[in-house]
Amino acid sequence: GKVAVLLGGNSAEREVSLRSGQAVLNALQNHGINAIAFDPKERPLWELNELAIDRVFIALHGRGGEDGTVQGALEFMNLPYTGSNVLGSALAMDKVRCKHLFKSAGLSTAPYTVVDAKKGFDAAAIMQQFKKVMVKPSHEGSSIGMAQASTPQELEDALSNAFKFDSQVLVEQWISGREFTITVLGDEVLPVIEMTTPNGFYDYQAKYQATTTQYHCPADLSPADTEHLQAMALDAFDLVGASGWGRVDAMQDQQGDFYLLEVNTVPGMTEKSLVPMAAKAHGASFEQLVVRILEQTL
Ligand code: DAL
Ligand code: MG
Repeated sequence: GKVAVLLGGNSAEREVSLRSGQAVLNALQNHGINAIAFDPKERPLWELNELAIDRVFIALHGRGGEDGTVQGALEFMNLPYTGSNVLGSALAMDKVRCKHLFKSAGLSTAPYTVVDAKKGFDAAAIMQQFKKVMVKPSHEGSSIGMAQASTPQELEDALSNAFKFDSQVLVEQWISGREFTITVLGDEVLPVIEMTTPNGFYDYQAKYQATTTQYHCPADLSPADTEHLQAMALDAFDLVGASGWGRVDAMQDQQGDFYLLEVNTVPGMTEKSLVPMAAKAHGASFEQLVVRILEQTL
């Protein structure tokens, strides 16, 4: 069969997706699979039918590619695709609704409030309640539009920047501690990775540009903590209806408690990305990883 790798797109994470998609395409071709690159920013999706494609590897990040939109179109076209279905994709992309879900399911996540661009907000009251916060546009990835705030003025600045990306913004209690990520591949959960950065947090620069970011895989955690974190990741993954593959981000505060951040249904697959790193620690090469993701195709 012929595989199309969807890459690029027109989200704020376009550049990351181009790198993920190219790496995936190379791996598929090296494996002897007939694969082509397809950028839905440059041509309409229905051209996949004219190209006689019979399976799709989605390497699009962010809105329009990771949020159920493309998944729905592919269902309509009867084309099997990698990763989560429409519902799982849409939910995982919505940080605000994920927080509501985590909370109602009793999964550990940091306290938060939601600010809507169309409604007012009281910066002083929010800062009095939380002291220090992380501000996140609800539907972005790669830390785009995110900022920390410790004063009402900083919160206002962070919100006005976040509103450039999204009308709904999550304001989360700042967690000071360690940052982890956990990969789910099929029915398996892979070794935990810890990321450390001299930046205030694991931001866009730390993710894709910095040479100062360090990765520890498997993370230096007790077997009990590792198991706890992996179980938490699987619970979150299942709760949002994700499937096939994905990556769950989490933190640990100074008291040792773990908190879920979010579920990524099309995590980065660049040479610096985390899922390939976890796969490697699990004994799978990049090529084997890509083939396994393709095998999970719906
Ligand atoms: N949103 C980026 C691609 C990630 O989660 O890896
Ligand atoms: Mg994300």
